[in-house]
Amino acid sequence: MAWRYLVNFDTRELETVECAFLILGSGIAGLYTAHLASRFWDDVVVLTKRGIDDTATERAQGGIAAAVGPSDSPVLHYGDTLLAGSDLCEPDAVRILVNEGPGRVQELIELGAAFDRANGRLDLTREGAHTRRRILHAAGDATGAEIQRVLSTTVRGNHRIKVLENHFAVDLLTAGGICWGVLTWDKTHDRLTVFRARVVVIATGGAGQVYRETTNPRVVTGDGIAMAYRAGAEVMDMEFVQFHPTVLALKGVRRFLISEAVRGEGGILVNAKGERFMPRYHPQGELAPRDVVVRAILRELETEGSECVYLSLRHLDPVMVRGRFPTITEQLARNGLDLACDLIPVSPAAHYFMGGVKTGLHGETNLRGLYACGEAACAGVHGANRLASNSLLDGLVFGGRIVEHARASFPGATDSSVVGRDLGPPDGVHVSALREELQSLMQEHVGPVRTAAGLETALKRFEDWGWIRGKEAGTPDAMELRDMIDVAELITEAALMRNESRGGHYRSDYPVSRQRWKKHIIIRRQV
Ligand code: SIN
Repeated sequence: MAWRYLVNFDTRELETVECAFLILGSGIAGLYTAHLASRFWDDVVVLTKRGIDDTATERAQGGIAAAVGPSDSPVLHYGDTLLAGSDLCEPDAVRILVNEGPGRVQELIELGAAFDRANGRLDLTREGAHTRRRILHAAGDATGAEIQRVLSTTVRGNHRIKVLENHFAVDLLTAGGICWGVLTWDKTHDRLTVFRARVVVIATGGAGQVYRETTNPRVVTGDGIAMAYRAGAEVMDMEFVQFHPTVLALKGVRRFLISEAVRGEGGILVNAKGERFMPRYHPQGELAPRDVVVRAILRELETEGSECVYLSLRHLDPVMVRGRFPTITEQLARNGLDLACDLIPVSPAAHYFMGGVKTGLHGETNLRGLYACGEAACAGVHGANRLASNSLLDGLVFGGRIVEHARASFPGATDSSVVGRDLGPPDGVHVSALREELQSLMQEHVGPVRTAAGLETALKRFEDWGWIRGKEAGTPDAMELRDMIDVAELITEAALMRNESRGGHYRSDYPVSRQRWKKHIIIRRQV
């Protein structure tokens, strides 16, 4: 059982900052929501635990999916999304995503996002499980960086929005089912502060860092999901973690994503013997849904006794390859590899969380005043497996809907104070060693292939760590560790419950999908 707070405090003794609209996180979901909110409120605050651009959005390569091509339509995008989601998507949420998506993307373009064009038209690429070319990209493979640039510039230039960097959101402050604020740790001045707001939006991203092998930056530690859970918010679909099939696998080198768009443009996968293997596993070959490609790779690794498979683009025009993927080309060159001519060693790594804080169709949660959007949220739009490049779109569409909802209902803050006083001193918690142990435990037992025995081993270890929750988390690193443990435990519990395989959740002891499990697992802590 998670403890309610990470630190001891008394809100009456802390400095309090008042604002109308408070957003946690500065990726696409957080910044776009702030931009829209500023049309209606003049005191919008964005808190981010590092710099404004230290986000997963910044690293997104492939692009943003939207049905804007001449042979495409929202109906086709809808069908592809549902199919990838393995019968677990919420159809209404998907309908909203695909119908509102093109308009939101157009707004990004009007804000200055320079998506790549060919002959004056948007140049659309393909990725796994899409039946049309519908992925917009920028500077070839630097789509996220372009979107982050545009939104950061927009928000920084808006006097109605204040961005506070180096502010770690510690815990939500609630009373009687209403979220009225956030307890934060100001890293610059080493002090706790209370932010009181009528609307609190969690846009803190996923939790890839709970795994040893991940594409996510170090900041992505599940903070928003964990704090919402501790406060009594419902979380949903936590067992569904998407592993990306092609992440650079070079010893001693950071796991760097090799975009699915590389396969979309014709790249193939070969095993240690140099044989192309994907057509043996799925009719869509290298562009099969991600979970299928991941398991095929794991099977090849086992059969061949190797540690990686290889991406090959040797059959493609090298000028096209280098021009289309400049960021990947440059990153590989730093490690002595040529994307166009070499075999690129890759293996899967944790990439995206389909689950998160359960929301309705306007980002609203079961706590009044609390909303969530982006990867931290779960409206059921991705089901059991997200369709490639739907995540940036999700952040835009559902972020925008929060503003509409909050305008109509303007949920009220209460006049409350909160005291948390039951935690012991933080001695004996070796934060960085525990972080590494947690990441290895999750990688080994709660990765792309799971069994009841492995999941129980992981849960037993979390139980052993129960004492940590009785200790105060005195530093941001310790707070992150606590958040990671809370999220990891939720993933593991849900994965053990779901006795079937579906999308990103694969149980080798229950390898097929079962009709009776065509439902969501929703978890809420008793408060
Ligand atoms: C990629 O570029 O392969 C990642 C795109 C995504 O995860 O949607």
